[in-house]
Amino acid sequence: MTSKQIILVTLVVAFAVYSALVYTAQPNLTQERPLSVSAAHGQRLYQEYNCVACHQFYGLGGYMGPDLTNVISRKGDAYARAFISSGSLRMPNFDLNEAEVGSLVDFLEFVDGSGQYPAESHEIYWSGAYVESDS
Ligand code: HEC
Repeated sequence: MTSKQIILVTLVVAFAVYSALVYTAQPNLTQERPLSVSAAHGQRLYQEYNCVACHQFYGLGGYMGPDLTNVISRKGDAYARAFISSGSLRMPNFDLNEAEVGSLVDFLEFVDGSGQYPAESHEIYWSGAYVESDS
């Protein structure tokens, strides 16, 4: 084998091992905490109305609006409901009915229960995984 072939094989093996470790290490959160029917509907609405264009979960998404990961526990569901049903000067009003607003709030509540962002304390594993720690 030439040195280029050795490098190629090493990189392919490293990629395969790293991918296997990273993609099998994390628990599947939706399997452990099933979405209710209403929250699942809220998730579809979240995608349909493209809320992620302006909002983030865990810091990922658009940056026109605030991060929504913990909006329910930090500001309350009545507060979230008011924004989602009426919008504001900077957030559009989507003319959603009460059931749709309720589903979106249920979905935000589900996301809220998945963790804290930004995490108060966390560990970064050698693989780059970022895991919230209890302390
Ligand atoms: C065009 C961009 C845009 C889209 C799309 C959008 N929002 Fe917003 N949203 C904003 C902005 C900007 C704010 C902050 C508004 C303010 O303070 O007046 C906001 C505020 C909020 C808040 C209050 C957050 C807080 O911490 O104060 C919630 C909840 C919210 N949006 C939910 C949603 C949901 C659910 C959707 C999808 C149905 C959505 N938004 C779509 C721009 C958007």
